[in-house]
Amino acid sequence: MKTLLVTGGAGFIGTNFIHHVLTFRPEWRIINLDALTYAGNLSNLEDLPADHRERHHFIHGDIREASLLDQLFTEEKFEGVIHFAAESHVDRSILGPEAFLEANVIGTFRLLQACLRYWETRGRPGGFRFLHVSTDEVYGSLGPEGYFTEGTPYNPSSPYSASKAASDHFVKAYFSTYGLPTIVTNCSNNYGPYQFPEKLIPLIILNIIEGKPLPVYGDGKNIRDWLYVIDHCGALIRVLEEGNPGETYNIGGGEERQNIEIVHILCDLLDAHLGRSGKESSRKLIRFVTDRPGHDRRYAIDSSKIRRDLGWSPKYCFKEALEATVDWYLNHMEWIESVRSGEYRRWIETNYGSREISLLNNPSDSKMIRRRP
Ligand code: NAD
Ligand code: TYD
Repeated sequence: MKTLLVTGGAGFIGTNFIHHVLTFRPEWRIINLDALTYAGNLSNLEDLPADHRERHHFIHGDIREASLLDQLFTEEKFEGVIHFAAESHVDRSILGPEAFLEANVIGTFRLLQACLRYWETRGRPGGFRFLHVSTDEVYGSLGPEGYFTEGTPYNPSSPYSASKAASDHFVKAYFSTYGLPTIVTNCSNNYGPYQFPEKLIPLIILNIIEGKPLPVYGDGKNIRDWLYVIDHCGALIRVLEEGNPGETYNIGGGEERQNIEIVHILCDLLDAHLGRSGKESSRKLIRFVTDRPGHDRRYAIDSSKIRRDLGWSPKYCFKEALEATVDWYLNHMEWIESVRSGEYRRWIETNYGSREISLLNNPSDSKMIRRRP
C-alpha cells in the first residue's frame, strides 16, 4: 500500500480527488486532514463503498498545528503529500484577507516544515513528493491575447491570489534550499460536483432553480478557462506519479468563456429541465451588479508542458461536463441544504446585499441605478 496525506480532502477538489484515487488506484491509502471550515463537508465522503472506506482515514485538524502534523508524520509512513487545504474564494478574501494569510501562507509553511523534518528523518527518500495544488490566479490578468505559461511572472491581484502566490514561492524555496521534492501545479477554474455554492457555477445553478436574481459582476465579459474537476484530478495523479521535483505544471481545459456566456448556458440547460421558456426564461433573472474590486479580466492557460512531458490532456467535453454538473446539483438538493448553514446565508447577505445593480441589459453603462433591498 502507498499512503498519501491529502490536506483539505473534505473540500470541492479534495473530495473529487479522493473519490477518484480510491476508485482508480486500489493500492493507495489516504489520510485526509481537514479542519472542516465552512467549505469542508465530511458527508461528501460518507457513502464510500466498503473497500474504499477501509483505505480512507479522516483526521479533523488544522494544517497550522505543528504538533498535530509532527504526530501524524511520526505515526504514518507517507509516500507523498497532496496539499489542497486553503481558503479559496476571492470575494471572501476581499472582505476578510487575514484568514487567507493564516491558512494559505502560514498553513503551507507549517506543512512544509513538518514534511521536511519527516523527509530528513527518513533519510531523504527519493520517491517522496510534496504536490502543492495552486491556481492560475497567481499570474494576474491577461489582455485579449496570450496565455499563462509556467514562466509567466507572478502578478496577483486579490488577497486570495497573493496568498497562493506566497505559498507557491515557499514551496519552490523548499526545493531550492533544502532539496525537498516539491512540485507546484497551477490550474484554471474548476467546476463539477461538490463545489460550494459561493462560486459562480453552483451559485448560478441554485439561484436559477430557486428563481433568485443571477448576479453578474461588472459587464460579465471577464473570461475564465474552465476545467472539469475530474480532469484536474487525472492531471494531479499524473503529476504525482510522473512529475519531476522542482517543476511547475500549468493545467487548463482550453475552454475560455465569458461569465455571461456561462450564465446563459446554465439558464438554457436548466430551463430545459424546469420547463421554463419564452417570457419565463431564467435569463430574465440576470442582474449586472457592482464589479469585484481588482477583478482580473482574463485567465487562459497554456498547458502544453503537461501535455508534452506527462502525456495528460482533458477527457471531458465542456458542454457535456457542464450538463453532468447541472444534473448532479439537481439530484443532490439535500447536499445543498446541508451545506447552506447560517454562515452561508450570512455570506450571501454580506457579499450581495450591498452590491448595486447596473442598468439592466446595458452593462457597458456603468451607472448604477439602485441598491438591492
Ligand atoms: P475548497 O474551499 O472547496 O476546500 C478547501 C478545503 O480546505 C476545505 O475542506 C477546508 O475545510 C479545508 N481547509 C481550509 N483551511 C484549512 C486549514 N487551515 N487546515 C486544514 N484544512 C483546511 O477549495 P477547492 O476549490 O477544493 O480548492 C482546493 C485547492 O485547489 C485550493 O488550494 C485552491 O487554491 C486550489 N485551486 C482551486 C481551483 C478551483 O477552481 N476551485 C482552481 C485551481 C486551484
Ligand atoms: P469564482 O467562481 O468566484 O472564481 P474566481 O474568482 O476564482 O475566478 O468567479 C468566477 C468568475 O465569475 C469571476 O470572473 C467572478 C464572476 N462572478 C460573478 O460574476 N458573479 C458571482 O456571483 C460570482 C461568485 C462570480
